[in-house]
Amino acid sequence: MDARSVIAAVRDGRGLSPEAAQWFAQGLADDNVSDAQAGAFAMAVFLKGIGPAGRVALTRAMRDSGQVIGWDLPGPVIDKHSTGGIGDSVSLLLAPALAACGVYVPMISGRGLGHTGGTLDKMEAIPGYRALPGIDTLKSVVAGVGCAIVGATGEIAPADKRLYGIRDISGTVESIDLITASILSKKLAAGLQGLVLDVKVGSGAFMPDAESARALAQSLVATANGAGCKTSALITDMNQSLGHSAGNALEVLEVMETLTGTSVNEALWDVTAALGGEALVLAGKAADMDRGAAMIDNALETGRAAEIFGRMVAALGGPADFVERYPDRLPSAPVFKIVPSPRAGFVARVNARALGEAVVRLGGGRLVGSDRINPSVGLSGLAVIGEEMAAGEPIAMVHASSEDRAEAAVAAVLAAYELSDTLPEEPPLIHERIGPEDVDALT
Ligand code: URA
Repeated sequence: MDARSVIAAVRDGRGLSPEAAQWFAQGLADDNVSDAQAGAFAMAVFLKGIGPAGRVALTRAMRDSGQVIGWDLPGPVIDKHSTGGIGDSVSLLLAPALAACGVYVPMISGRGLGHTGGTLDKMEAIPGYRALPGIDTLKSVVAGVGCAIVGATGEIAPADKRLYGIRDISGTVESIDLITASILSKKLAAGLQGLVLDVKVGSGAFMPDAESARALAQSLVATANGAGCKTSALITDMNQSLGHSAGNALEVLEVMETLTGTSVNEALWDVTAALGGEALVLAGKAADMDRGAAMIDNALETGRAAEIFGRMVAALGGPADFVERYPDRLPSAPVFKIVPSPRAGFVARVNARALGEAVVRLGGGRLVGSDRINPSVGLSGLAVIGEEMAAGEPIAMVHASSEDRAEAAVAAVLAAYELSDTLPEEPPLIHERIGPEDVDALT
Protein backbone atom coordinates (compact mmCIF):
# COMPACT_ATOMS: atom_id res chain seq x y z
CA MET A 1 0.00 0.00 0.00
CA ASP A 2 1.15 3.59 -0.55
CA ALA A 3 -0.18 7.08 0.25
CA ARG A 4 -0.96 7.93 -3.38
CA SER A 5 -3.35 5.01 -3.84
CA VAL A 6 -5.14 5.70 -0.52
CA ILE A 7 -5.61 9.38 -1.45
CA ALA A 8 -6.70 8.52 -5.02
CA ALA A 9 -9.32 6.05 -3.77
CA VAL A 10 -10.89 8.71 -1.53
CA ARG A 11 -10.59 11.36 -4.26
CA ASP A 12 -12.41 9.09 -6.73
CA GLY A 13 -15.22 8.34 -4.28
CA ARG A 14 -14.15 4.74 -3.66
CA GLY A 15 -14.02 5.31 0.11
CA LEU A 16 -11.52 4.27 2.77
CA SER A 17 -11.09 0.59 3.65
CA PRO A 18 -10.01 -0.47 7.17
CA GLU A 19 -6.64 -1.60 5.76
CA ALA A 20 -6.06 1.71 3.97
CA ALA A 21 -7.09 3.70 7.07
CA GLN A 22 -4.74 1.65 9.24
CA TRP A 23 -1.85 2.12 6.82
CA PHE A 24 -2.43 5.88 6.48
CA ALA A 25 -2.87 6.52 10.23
CA GLN A 26 0.32 4.62 10.99
CA GLY A 27 2.08 6.66 8.29
CA LEU A 28 0.86 9.87 9.93
CA ALA A 29 2.13 8.72 13.31
CA ASP A 30 5.56 7.59 12.14
CA ASP A 31 6.11 10.24 9.43
CA ASN A 32 5.95 7.83 6.47
CA VAL A 33 3.18 10.09 5.14
CA SER A 34 4.36 13.59 4.18
CA ASP A 35 2.59 16.85 5.08
CA ALA A 36 1.60 17.27 1.41
CA GLN A 37 0.04 13.79 1.37
CA ALA A 38 -1.75 14.38 4.67
CA GLY A 39 -3.15 17.69 3.32
CA ALA A 40 -4.28 16.00 0.08
CA PHE A 41 -5.93 13.21 2.07
CA ALA A 42 -7.76 15.69 4.31
CA MET A 43 -9.02 17.64 1.28
CA ALA A 44 -10.11 14.46 -0.51
CA VAL A 45 -12.10 13.40 2.59
CA PHE A 46 -13.49 16.94 2.93
CA LEU A 47 -14.72 17.04 -0.69
CA LYS A 48 -15.80 13.44 -1.30
CA GLY A 49 -16.57 12.05 2.16
CA ILE A 50 -15.74 8.53 3.30
CA GLY A 51 -19.20 7.35 4.37
CA PRO A 52 -20.18 5.67 7.67
CA ALA A 53 -17.88 2.68 7.27
CA GLY A 54 -14.93 4.94 6.37
CA ARG A 55 -15.54 7.02 9.52
CA VAL A 56 -15.40 3.90 11.69
CA ALA A 57 -12.24 2.73 9.88
CA LEU A 58 -10.49 6.12 10.28
CA THR A 59 -11.56 6.43 13.93
CA ARG A 60 -10.27 2.95 14.80
CA ALA A 61 -7.05 3.48 12.84
CA MET A 62 -6.26 6.85 14.49
CA ARG A 63 -7.18 5.43 17.92
CA ASP A 64 -4.74 2.56 17.34
CA SER A 65 -1.93 4.84 16.10
CA GLY A 66 -0.85 5.28 19.74
CA GLN A 67 -1.50 3.73 23.11
CA VAL A 68 -5.00 2.47 23.92
CA ILE A 69 -5.39 2.48 27.69
CA GLY A 70 -6.46 -0.78 29.32
CA TRP A 71 -8.25 -0.81 32.68
CA ASP A 72 -8.73 -3.32 35.46
CA LEU A 73 -11.22 -1.55 37.70
CA PRO A 74 -14.24 -2.66 39.72
CA GLY A 75 -16.63 -0.35 37.82
CA PRO A 76 -17.41 0.88 34.31
CA VAL A 77 -15.13 3.39 32.54
CA ILE A 78 -17.15 6.23 31.03
CA ASP A 79 -16.51 9.74 29.73
CA LYS A 80 -18.25 12.78 28.28
CA HIS A 81 -17.20 15.01 25.40
CA SER A 82 -18.50 18.44 24.45
CA THR A 83 -18.11 19.89 20.97
CA GLY A 84 -17.26 23.21 22.63
CA GLY A 85 -18.93 26.36 23.82
CA ILE A 86 -18.80 29.45 26.03
CA GLY A 87 -19.00 29.22 29.83
CA ASP A 88 -19.32 25.46 29.49
CA SER A 89 -17.68 24.02 32.60
CA VAL A 90 -19.94 20.95 32.80
CA SER A 91 -16.95 18.57 32.68
CA LEU A 92 -15.67 19.91 36.01
CA LEU A 93 -18.98 19.09 37.70
CA LEU A 94 -19.72 15.89 35.84
CA ALA A 95 -16.44 14.00 36.26
CA PRO A 96 -16.55 14.00 40.09
CA ALA A 97 -20.34 13.52 40.16
CA LEU A 98 -20.04 10.38 38.00
CA ALA A 99 -17.16 9.15 40.14
CA ALA A 100 -19.41 9.58 43.20
CA CYS A 101 -21.88 7.23 41.48
CA GLY A 102 -19.32 4.42 41.11
CA VAL A 103 -18.17 5.20 37.58
CA TYR A 104 -14.50 5.67 36.63
CA VAL A 105 -13.83 8.74 34.48
CA PRO A 106 -10.52 9.21 32.67
CA MET A 107 -11.43 12.57 31.14
CA ILE A 108 -8.91 13.35 28.40
CA SER A 109 -9.74 16.94 27.52
CA GLY A 110 -8.61 19.64 25.13
CA ARG A 111 -7.55 23.27 25.25
CA GLY A 112 -9.61 26.19 23.99
CA LEU A 113 -10.29 26.09 20.25
CA GLY A 114 -11.12 29.33 18.43
CA HIS A 115 -13.71 31.26 20.45
CA THR A 116 -14.55 28.30 22.72
CA GLY A 117 -13.02 27.60 26.13
CA GLY A 118 -11.08 24.41 26.94
CA THR A 119 -11.41 22.20 29.99
CA LEU A 120 -7.65 21.83 30.27
CA ASP A 121 -7.09 25.60 30.35
CA LYS A 122 -9.70 25.86 33.12
CA MET A 123 -8.04 23.18 35.24
CA GLU A 124 -4.67 24.90 34.78
CA ALA A 125 -6.16 28.02 36.40
CA ILE A 126 -5.80 26.06 39.66
CA PRO A 127 -2.26 26.77 40.92
CA GLY A 128 -0.02 23.71 40.80
CA TYR A 129 -2.48 21.51 38.89
CA ARG A 130 -0.62 19.18 36.52
CA ALA A 131 -2.87 18.83 33.48
CA LEU A 132 -0.44 16.67 31.47
CA PRO A 133 0.71 14.04 33.95
CA GLY A 134 1.14 11.10 31.50
CA ILE A 135 -0.76 7.84 31.31
CA ASP A 136 0.63 6.13 34.43
CA THR A 137 -0.46 9.00 36.70
CA LEU A 138 -3.81 9.24 34.92
CA LYS A 139 -4.38 5.56 35.64
CA SER A 140 -3.41 5.76 39.28
CA VAL A 141 -5.52 8.89 39.96
CA VAL A 142 -8.57 7.38 38.22
CA ALA A 143 -8.14 4.17 40.22
CA GLY A 144 -7.65 6.00 43.53
CA VAL A 145 -10.03 8.96 43.24
CA GLY A 146 -12.50 7.87 40.55
CA CYS A 147 -11.77 10.60 38.00
CA ALA A 148 -8.94 12.61 36.49
CA ILE A 149 -9.25 15.57 34.12
CA VAL A 150 -6.07 15.68 32.04
CA GLY A 151 -4.80 16.45 28.54
CA ALA A 152 -3.61 14.06 25.84
CA THR A 153 0.12 13.51 25.74
CA GLY A 154 1.91 12.32 22.57
CA GLU A 155 1.08 8.70 23.44
CA ILE A 156 -2.64 9.20 22.67
CA ALA A 157 -3.77 9.09 19.00
CA PRO A 158 -0.60 10.67 17.50
CA ALA A 159 -2.10 10.34 13.98
CA ASP A 160 -4.88 12.74 14.96
CA LYS A 161 -2.43 15.18 16.50
CA ARG A 162 -0.56 15.40 13.18
CA LEU A 163 -3.64 15.45 10.94
CA TYR A 164 -5.35 18.05 13.16
CA GLY A 165 -2.41 20.45 12.77
CA ILE A 166 -2.48 20.01 9.00
CA ARG A 167 -6.28 20.46 8.79
CA ASP A 168 -5.93 23.67 10.77
CA ILE A 169 -3.77 25.23 8.05
CA SER A 170 -5.34 23.62 4.96
CA GLY A 171 -9.00 24.70 5.18
CA THR A 172 -10.19 21.21 6.08
CA VAL A 173 -11.31 21.53 9.71
CA GLU A 174 -15.04 21.67 8.98
CA SER A 175 -15.56 18.15 7.68
CA ILE A 176 -18.00 16.01 9.67
CA ASP A 177 -16.02 12.87 8.71
CA LEU A 178 -12.74 14.36 9.96
CA ILE A 179 -14.24 15.99 13.08
CA THR A 180 -15.89 12.67 14.00
CA ALA A 181 -12.72 10.60 13.64
CA SER A 182 -10.63 13.27 15.38
CA ILE A 183 -12.84 13.57 18.47
CA LEU A 184 -13.54 9.86 18.81
CA SER A 185 -10.03 8.54 18.18
CA LYS A 186 -8.74 10.45 21.23
CA LYS A 187 -11.71 9.56 23.42
CA LEU A 188 -11.71 5.86 22.47
CA ALA A 189 -7.96 5.61 23.12
CA ALA A 190 -8.89 6.12 26.78
CA GLY A 191 -10.35 2.59 26.73
CA LEU A 192 -13.94 3.67 27.42
CA GLN A 193 -16.94 1.39 27.78
CA GLY A 194 -19.36 4.26 27.25
CA LEU A 195 -19.34 7.86 26.07
CA VAL A 196 -21.91 10.62 26.29
CA LEU A 197 -21.61 13.50 23.84
CA ASP A 198 -22.73 17.06 24.38
CA VAL A 199 -23.23 18.51 20.90
CA LYS A 200 -23.71 22.24 21.22
CA VAL A 201 -26.02 24.20 18.95
CA GLY A 202 -26.47 27.96 18.65
CA SER A 203 -24.67 31.25 18.26
CA GLY A 204 -21.62 30.18 20.30
CA ALA A 205 -21.30 26.66 18.89
CA PHE A 206 -19.31 25.33 15.93
CA MET A 207 -22.67 24.02 14.65
CA PRO A 208 -24.96 27.08 14.68
CA ASP A 209 -28.15 25.42 13.38
CA ALA A 210 -30.21 22.37 14.35
CA GLU A 211 -29.57 20.56 11.08
CA SER A 212 -25.77 20.66 11.24
CA ALA A 213 -25.73 19.84 14.98
CA ARG A 214 -28.00 16.83 14.34
CA ALA A 215 -25.78 15.66 11.47
CA LEU A 216 -22.68 15.84 13.70
CA ALA A 217 -24.45 14.12 16.62
CA GLN A 218 -25.68 11.31 14.35
CA SER A 219 -22.24 10.85 12.84
CA LEU A 220 -20.56 10.74 16.27
CA VAL A 221 -23.13 8.34 17.76
CA ALA A 222 -23.12 5.99 14.75
CA THR A 223 -19.33 5.95 14.47
CA ALA A 224 -18.61 5.47 18.19
CA ASN A 225 -21.12 2.63 18.47
CA GLY A 226 -19.73 1.17 15.22
CA ALA A 227 -16.24 1.29 16.77
CA GLY A 228 -17.52 -0.65 19.79
CA CYS A 229 -18.19 2.07 22.38
CA LYS A 230 -21.76 2.52 23.70
CA THR A 231 -22.51 6.15 22.95
CA SER A 232 -25.42 8.60 22.94
CA ALA A 233 -25.62 12.36 22.48
CA LEU A 234 -27.60 15.30 23.78
CA ILE A 235 -27.84 18.41 21.62
CA THR A 236 -27.72 21.27 24.12
CA ASP A 237 -28.14 25.00 23.83
CA MET A 238 -25.28 27.41 23.10
CA ASN A 239 -27.28 30.52 22.19
CA GLN A 240 -25.78 32.16 25.28
CA SER A 241 -23.04 31.37 27.76
CA LEU A 242 -24.01 28.27 29.76
CA GLY A 243 -22.50 29.61 32.96
CA HIS A 244 -22.77 33.15 34.28
CA SER A 245 -18.99 33.32 33.86
CA ALA A 246 -16.72 32.85 30.84
CA GLY A 247 -12.97 32.78 31.46
CA ASN A 248 -10.80 30.15 33.09
CA ALA A 249 -10.47 30.97 36.81
CA LEU A 250 -13.92 32.63 36.83
CA GLU A 251 -15.49 29.42 35.53
CA VAL A 252 -13.65 27.32 38.12
CA LEU A 253 -14.99 29.73 40.77
CA GLU A 254 -18.53 29.22 39.48
CA VAL A 255 -18.05 25.44 39.47
CA MET A 256 -16.83 25.52 43.07
CA GLU A 257 -19.76 27.69 44.15
CA THR A 258 -22.12 25.18 42.52
CA LEU A 259 -20.30 22.11 43.91
CA THR A 260 -20.25 23.51 47.43
CA GLY A 261 -23.81 24.89 47.26
CA THR A 262 -22.56 28.43 47.94
CA SER A 263 -24.29 29.79 44.83
CA VAL A 264 -25.75 27.24 42.46
CA ASN A 265 -25.89 27.88 38.71
CA GLU A 266 -29.03 25.98 37.71
CA ALA A 267 -28.33 25.80 33.98
CA LEU A 268 -24.92 24.25 34.60
CA TRP A 269 -26.41 21.87 37.16
CA ASP A 270 -29.28 20.80 34.88
CA VAL A 271 -27.07 20.11 31.85
CA THR A 272 -24.67 18.18 34.12
CA ALA A 273 -27.54 16.09 35.51
CA ALA A 274 -28.97 15.37 32.05
CA LEU A 275 -25.61 14.26 30.61
CA GLY A 276 -24.82 12.36 33.80
CA GLY A 277 -28.18 10.59 33.69
CA GLU A 278 -27.43 9.49 30.14
CA ALA A 279 -23.92 8.35 31.16
CA LEU A 280 -25.22 6.32 34.11
CA VAL A 281 -27.66 4.48 31.82
CA LEU A 282 -24.75 3.65 29.45
CA ALA A 283 -22.76 2.49 32.49
CA GLY A 284 -25.55 0.17 33.59
CA LYS A 285 -25.86 2.09 36.89
CA ALA A 286 -29.33 3.57 36.27
CA ALA A 287 -32.46 2.10 34.70
CA ASP A 288 -33.36 5.29 32.88
CA MET A 289 -32.17 8.84 32.33
CA ASP A 290 -34.40 10.36 35.01
CA ARG A 291 -33.15 7.99 37.68
CA GLY A 292 -29.58 8.61 36.51
CA ALA A 293 -30.08 12.38 36.68
CA ALA A 294 -31.46 12.00 40.24
CA MET A 295 -28.26 10.12 41.21
CA ILE A 296 -26.18 13.03 39.84
CA ASP A 297 -28.38 15.53 41.74
CA ASN A 298 -27.68 13.56 44.90
CA ALA A 299 -23.90 13.47 44.29
CA LEU A 300 -23.92 17.27 43.88
CA GLU A 301 -26.33 18.03 46.77
CA THR A 302 -24.53 15.89 49.36
CA GLY A 303 -21.12 17.45 48.65
CA ARG A 304 -19.74 14.06 47.59
CA ALA A 305 -18.82 15.42 44.13
CA ALA A 306 -17.08 18.42 45.75
CA GLU A 307 -15.05 16.11 47.97
CA ILE A 308 -13.94 13.99 44.98
CA PHE A 309 -13.07 17.13 43.00
CA GLY A 310 -10.85 18.25 45.89
CA ARG A 311 -9.12 14.87 46.04
CA MET A 312 -8.51 14.93 42.28
CA VAL A 313 -7.02 18.45 42.46
CA ALA A 314 -4.70 17.45 45.32
CA ALA A 315 -3.66 14.19 43.59
CA LEU A 316 -2.65 16.18 40.50
CA GLY A 317 -0.54 18.76 42.35
CA GLY A 318 -3.11 21.44 43.25
CA PRO A 319 -3.77 22.84 46.75
CA ALA A 320 -4.86 20.21 49.29
CA ASP A 321 -7.39 22.69 50.75
CA PHE A 322 -8.85 23.80 47.40
CA VAL A 323 -12.50 23.02 48.21
CA GLU A 324 -12.35 25.04 51.46
CA ARG A 325 -10.13 27.88 50.20
CA TYR A 326 -10.85 28.19 46.44
CA PRO A 327 -11.63 31.96 46.53
CA ASP A 328 -8.11 32.61 47.94
CA ARG A 329 -6.39 30.06 45.73
CA LEU A 330 -7.68 31.18 42.32
CA PRO A 331 -5.97 34.10 40.56
CA SER A 332 -7.92 37.35 40.14
CA ALA A 333 -7.52 40.14 37.58
CA PRO A 334 -6.39 43.67 38.59
CA VAL A 335 -9.01 45.62 36.56
CA PHE A 336 -12.74 45.20 37.12
CA LYS A 337 -15.46 47.02 35.14
CA ILE A 338 -19.23 46.83 35.02
CA VAL A 339 -21.03 46.63 31.65
CA PRO A 340 -24.13 48.80 32.17
CA SER A 341 -27.34 48.01 30.29
CA PRO A 342 -27.84 50.80 27.71
CA ARG A 343 -31.60 50.84 28.36
CA ALA A 344 -34.46 49.12 30.15
CA GLY A 345 -35.76 45.93 28.52
CA PHE A 346 -35.49 42.16 28.31
CA VAL A 347 -32.39 40.33 27.12
CA ALA A 348 -33.66 39.03 23.77
CA ARG A 349 -30.57 37.62 22.02
CA VAL A 350 -26.91 37.07 22.80
CA ASN A 351 -24.11 36.61 20.30
CA ALA A 352 -22.33 33.95 22.34
CA ARG A 353 -19.48 33.64 19.84
CA ALA A 354 -18.73 37.35 20.32
CA LEU A 355 -18.57 36.80 24.10
CA GLY A 356 -16.09 33.97 23.55
CA GLU A 357 -14.02 36.16 21.27
CA ALA A 358 -14.05 38.94 23.89
CA VAL A 359 -12.62 36.49 26.44
CA VAL A 360 -9.91 35.44 23.96
CA ARG A 361 -8.98 39.13 23.38
CA LEU A 362 -8.84 39.73 27.12
CA GLY A 363 -6.08 37.07 27.13
CA GLY A 364 -8.26 34.18 28.33
CA GLY A 365 -7.76 32.24 25.07
CA ARG A 366 -5.22 32.01 22.28
CA LEU A 367 -5.03 33.99 19.03
CA VAL A 368 -2.04 31.90 17.92
CA GLY A 369 -1.02 28.52 19.27
CA SER A 370 2.00 29.86 21.17
CA ASP A 371 -0.03 32.46 23.17
CA ARG A 372 0.10 32.09 26.95
CA ILE A 373 -3.27 32.21 28.65
CA ASN A 374 -4.01 34.64 31.47
CA PRO A 375 -6.25 32.49 33.71
CA SER A 376 -7.63 35.40 35.74
CA VAL A 377 -9.41 37.36 32.98
CA GLY A 378 -12.92 36.98 31.58
CA LEU A 379 -16.56 37.86 32.12
CA SER A 380 -18.83 37.19 35.07
CA GLY A 381 -22.43 37.95 36.00
CA LEU A 382 -23.55 37.48 32.39
CA ALA A 383 -27.26 38.30 32.06
CA VAL A 384 -29.37 35.53 30.53
CA ILE A 385 -32.01 35.53 27.78
CA GLY A 386 -35.37 36.60 29.22
CA GLU A 387 -33.82 38.58 32.11
CA GLU A 388 -35.38 42.02 32.70
CA MET A 389 -32.83 44.81 32.96
CA ALA A 390 -33.19 48.39 34.22
CA ALA A 391 -31.16 51.07 32.40
CA GLY A 392 -27.62 51.07 33.84
CA GLU A 393 -28.05 47.72 35.60
CA PRO A 394 -25.02 45.41 35.05
CA ILE A 395 -25.32 43.11 32.02
CA ALA A 396 -21.94 41.60 32.92
CA MET A 397 -18.67 42.27 34.71
CA VAL A 398 -15.31 42.44 32.94
CA HIS A 399 -12.12 41.14 34.62
CA ALA A 400 -9.07 42.38 32.73
CA SER A 401 -5.32 42.80 32.90
CA SER A 402 -5.42 46.48 31.81
CA GLU A 403 -7.82 49.44 31.40
CA ASP A 404 -7.56 49.31 27.58
CA ARG A 405 -8.44 45.66 27.38
CA ALA A 406 -11.29 46.17 29.85
CA GLU A 407 -12.77 49.01 27.75
CA ALA A 408 -12.59 46.91 24.58
CA ALA A 409 -14.33 44.02 26.35
CA VAL A 410 -17.11 46.33 27.68
CA ALA A 411 -17.79 47.47 24.09
CA ALA A 412 -17.73 43.87 22.81
CA VAL A 413 -20.22 42.69 25.46
CA LEU A 414 -22.56 45.61 24.75
CA ALA A 415 -22.48 44.76 21.04
CA ALA A 416 -23.19 41.08 21.80
CA TYR A 417 -26.44 41.78 23.72
CA GLU A 418 -29.76 42.66 22.11
CA LEU A 419 -32.60 44.00 24.30
CA SER A 420 -36.32 44.01 23.49
CA ASP A 421 -39.43 45.56 25.00
CA THR A 422 -41.27 42.25 25.19
CA LEU A 423 -40.40 39.06 26.99
CA PRO A 424 -38.64 36.77 24.46
CA GLU A 425 -38.98 33.01 24.25
CA GLU A 426 -36.19 31.35 26.23
CA PRO A 427 -34.22 28.67 24.35
CA PRO A 428 -34.53 25.15 25.84
CA LEU A 429 -31.40 23.85 27.60
CA ILE A 430 -31.67 20.43 25.96
CA HIS A 431 -32.79 20.43 22.32
CA GLU A 432 -32.67 16.79 21.34
CA ARG A 433 -31.34 13.33 22.21
CA ILE A 434 -29.68 11.05 19.67
CA GLY A 435 -29.25 7.47 20.90
CA PRO A 436 -27.86 4.39 19.14
CA GLU A 437 -31.42 3.46 18.13
CA ASP A 438 -31.72 6.75 16.19
CA VAL A 439 -28.86 6.00 13.80
CA ASP A 440 -28.29 3.26 11.24
CA ALA A 441 -26.49 0.26 12.63
CA LEU A 442 -22.91 -0.02 11.38
CA THR A 443 -20.69 -3.01 11.10
N1 URA B 1 -12.21 18.72 18.40
C1 URA B 1 -11.33 17.77 17.97
O1 URA B 1 -10.69 17.11 18.75
N2 URA B 1 -11.20 17.59 16.66
C2 URA B 1 -11.90 18.29 15.74
O2 URA B 1 -11.74 18.04 14.56
C3 URA B 1 -12.81 19.27 16.19
C4 URA B 1 -12.96 19.46 17.54
